[in-house]
Amino acid sequence: MAAIVRSPRLVLGLPTGRSPLTLYRVLAERSSQARVNWSGVRTFNLDEFVGLGGADPGSYRAFMQSALFDHIGIDAGQIHLLDGRAPDLAAECARYERAIAAAGGIDIQVLGIGANGHVGFNEPADALRAHTHIATLTLGTRAANAQWFGNEPDRVPAHALSMGMATILAAREIVLIATGAEKAAAVSGMVSGLITPRLPASFLQLHTRVTVMVDNAAWGQKSEP
Ligand code: GLP
Repeated sequence: MAAIVRSPRLVLGLPTGRSPLTLYRVLAERSSQARVNWSGVRTFNLDEFVGLGGADPGSYRAFMQSALFDHIGIDAGQIHLLDGRAPDLAAECARYERAIAAAGGIDIQVLGIGANGHVGFNEPADALRAHTHIATLTLGTRAANAQWFGNEPDRVPAHALSMGMATILAAREIVLIATGAEKAAAVSGMVSGLITPRLPASFLQLHTRVTVMVDNAAWGQKSEP
C-alpha cells in the first residue's frame, strides 16, 4: 500500500488463493476511503487455468475481480491476466512475457506458496521452466484448488498457464505470504533448505529482496493449547 502511494506507476504481480485475501481486503478498504490511488498502477497475475474464460466463476480472473478489482479504482486496461482460452497457448505465454517487459518489469511480486512448495503453478519437478508456460497440475494442487470448483478436484482444470521461475525472480521485490500449519514444511524448505526444483519456492533464496510474511503455524510453531 505504502509502495503504491510512494510510486503511483507501480507494476504489481499478484497471486490468487486464500493467502492474499487479507491483503486484498485491506487494499479494498483503503481504496474505498480514497487512500490509495490506483490510476497509474498496472497488475500482472501469476497464473490462470487453461480452458477457463473470465466469465467462468472458477477462473482466476473471476477470483481477482471479486477479491480485489471490483473494489478499487482500476480500469480493465491496467489489469493483465493470462487468457486460459487463448487459441494458441504458447503464443499467449510469449505475449505475456512481452507485456511484462513492455511495462518495465514487475516492481513488487506478491506470492502465495503451495503446501508442496509450488509458486504460481511451478510445480515440484525434476526441472523447472524459466518463463511463462503451460503447466500440468499435480493431484494435490487440484485438490487444494477444489474449493473454487464446488469441492470437486476432478472439476479443477488439469493444466494452467503460469509465470516461470525466471519471470518471478526478475521482479525487483518479492513478498510471499503463507498461513497455516499445512504450509510449514514448504516454508521451512524455502527459507533454509537446499535450492531444488523439488521445492520451487526454494529458488527465492537466489533473490536479494524477499519478504516472507507468515503466521506462527506456517512458521512451524505450535499454537498454545
Ligand atoms: C494455488 C496458486 C498459487 C497459490 C497457491 C496457494 O494453486 N496457483 O498461486 O499461491 O496455490 O494457495 P492458497 O493461498 O489458497 O493456499
